[in-house]
Amino acid sequence: MLFIQLKDLFKSYGAIKALDGLNLNVPKGTLYGLLGPNGAGKSTALRIICTLLEPDTGEVKVAGRDALIYQKETRRGLGYVAQEVAIDKILTGRELLQLQADLYHLSKTYKNQRIEELIQRLEMKSWIDRRCGSFSGGMKRRLDLAAGLLHKPELLILDEPTVGLDIESRSVIWGLLKELRDEETTILLSSHYLEEVDELADEMAIIDNGKVIAEGKPDDLKRDLGGDRVTLRVREFSDEYEAESVRNILIEVPGVTNVVVNKKQGYSLNLVVRSQNVISELSHYLSKANFEVFALAHSRPSLDDVYLQATGKTLMDAELELAGTRDFKLEKKKSMR
Ligand SMILES: Nc1ncnc2c1ncn2[C@@H]1O[C@H](COP(=O)(O)OP(=O)(O)O)[C@@H](O)[C@H]1O
Ligand SMILES: [Mg+2]
Repeated sequence: MLFIQLKDLFKSYGAIKALDGLNLNVPKGTLYGLLGPNGAGKSTALRIICTLLEPDTGEVKVAGRDALIYQKETRRGLGYVAQEVAIDKILTGRELLQLQADLYHLSKTYKNQRIEELIQRLEMKSWIDRRCGSFSGGMKRRLDLAAGLLHKPELLILDEPTVGLDIESRSVIWGLLKELRDEETTILLSSHYLEEVDELADEMAIIDNGKVIAEGKPDDLKRDLGGDRVTLRVREFSDEYEAESVRNILIEVPGVTNVVVNKKQGYSLNLVVRSQNVISELSHYLSKANFEVFALAHSRPSLDDVYLQATGKTLMDAELELAGTRDFKLEKKKSMR
């Protein structure tokens, strides 16, 4: 059964298309990962599912209900942990959980029992009675997750749950998410960390520019790429013609099934090969063509390769590009002063 169904979602902010025809199907009881670079539309999609934001057009079904109509019911059944949270500074962690539990109208005995359980499961005992103002990012995140779980939601939605967190907090959160999944909670999490989605997700979608561009089980997506990866670091090509001719040489090597010329992060050639033996063949062909290789790396396909295949760039490049435009905006602002 599908727990979340998004169909043809569009959402624009002025000229920016945050969602550009997004389709997503999340089966009940799975931990579903939404992977994409900053600005891909992840938070926008999650906020729409939580009924905190309305799409311009499109369908949103949660637990079989039209979430655009049944907003209150939808909200009651889910826990949402936002990407950025402002937590009260004066209250202690425990007081904050109690306050939140009262907002959910939990009975007193259930409330205290549930709070104790979550304090244990998120390993918060040694600091939960301190004021929130003194909490680290990791502590705040764990507290926030506990708050989202107080009412035992059937659906948990987490927006980049471990961005910038210490290793201990990350591992506590990952551990709890795996347990919840085993307890049949449907979990939808967004991330721009490949390892996070690879480690946690039963199923996943890659989202880029407001659209899903690949979806499936992480292992299937990787396997579908067929074959191992070989990355060759090379000098800068003098022109497109040279890049193309090197590509043509490589694609002729028996066992090489794909060659992508990557001009970001220095020049490199990303190859898909059928077997390890291909590597010696490669060296042979390249030296015959008198083409120098600075470094060679061989690996099994990763989610980054899936991303590269789908978008023509690596996730890191996408992030760098974005950081570039952000710096540019900053520069522009500064120079306008
Ligand atoms: N309230 C808003 N006003 C204007 N633009 C927005 C707003 N929220 C998001 N955007 C833009 O929409 C795009 C998608 O944003 P978002 O959903 O936050 O992406 P992600 O969570 O994947 O980083 C980005 O280009 C972002 O700048
Ligand atoms: Mg976001």
